[in-house]
Amino acid sequence: MLELRAPAKINLGLEVIRRRPDGYHDINTIFAAVDLHDTIFLKSRPDNAIDCRVEGNDSLTSDRNNLCVRAAEALRNATGCRRGLDIALHKRIPMGAGLGGGSSDAAAVLKGAATLWGIDPGDRVLHELAAGIGSDVPFFLGAPLAIAVSRGEELRALDMNLPHAILLINPGIHVATPWAYGAVNRGSGRSASDLTTILQRGLVSPDLLAGQLVNDFEPAVFAEYPLLRMLKERLYEAGALFALMSGSGSTMFGLFQRMEDALHAATNFPGCWHAVTRFAARRE
Ligand code: C5P
Repeated sequence: MLELRAPAKINLGLEVIRRRPDGYHDINTIFAAVDLHDTIFLKSRPDNAIDCRVEGNDSLTSDRNNLCVRAAEALRNATGCRRGLDIALHKRIPMGAGLGGGSSDAAAVLKGAATLWGIDPGDRVLHELAAGIGSDVPFFLGAPLAIAVSRGEELRALDMNLPHAILLINPGIHVATPWAYGAVNRGSGRSASDLTTILQRGLVSPDLLAGQLVNDFEPAVFAEYPLLRMLKERLYEAGALFALMSGSGSTMFGLFQRMEDALHAATNFPGCWHAVTRFAARRE
């Protein structure tokens, strides 16, 4: 039996650069893994079935749409392995919330099932399988802080420690990612910012981040869901050094100096799901 932690991520800036001929969009973003995580238990089965039980969120079923099952099947198809797998998924990360929960679960299953089955497909194959499951799945195979371009699967690890406490707020709104990309409507393209430099400067003075680290989904998503703009404003009113939407929403995050600041700010959001967390530590 293997126990795995599948962390959530936030986007420290998310620029939609252009629409591509394949229907995807080139983006420019920094993915940052946080301590909030789902827990996954993997066990071999005597037969060759792949089964997934989900606890903590009944809107997910164990069918083929579950990214964990898709990950295990993709690994078997790529390697010819016929072993079975029992997956028990304890969800803490809200679904479809811009926090990458499903993608992180899939990446954890890819790595974990390879270990459990005693197969080593190699980093390149794992990355390809991950990218086939979803654009942000490859991030969860690697370093906890990375700049991502292309459709999000081309990654470069960043060697930085982010000390802030993070407050995540989600009002239960579901934003469909394909709709959000369509709504950005980046026909003529935009230039990509140097997000690494912006983040480095922001580590020294966080107030430099506001206005420089943007999420291109915000204008369209806020126009459709004005509550989200209000939540961002409320994060600033509650003392956030910086606030932004993660992914295509609907989770809003605020960065705070100290954990107690973030915990105190959380009391301003009754009725919303919230979590106070930190950036995941670098692996030495
Ligand atoms: O890759 P993933 O399955 O997560 O993407 C879901 C949808 O989001 C895609 O079908 C596409 O409509 C949109 N998308 C995009 N550009 C990206 C990532 C996702 O247009 N870089």
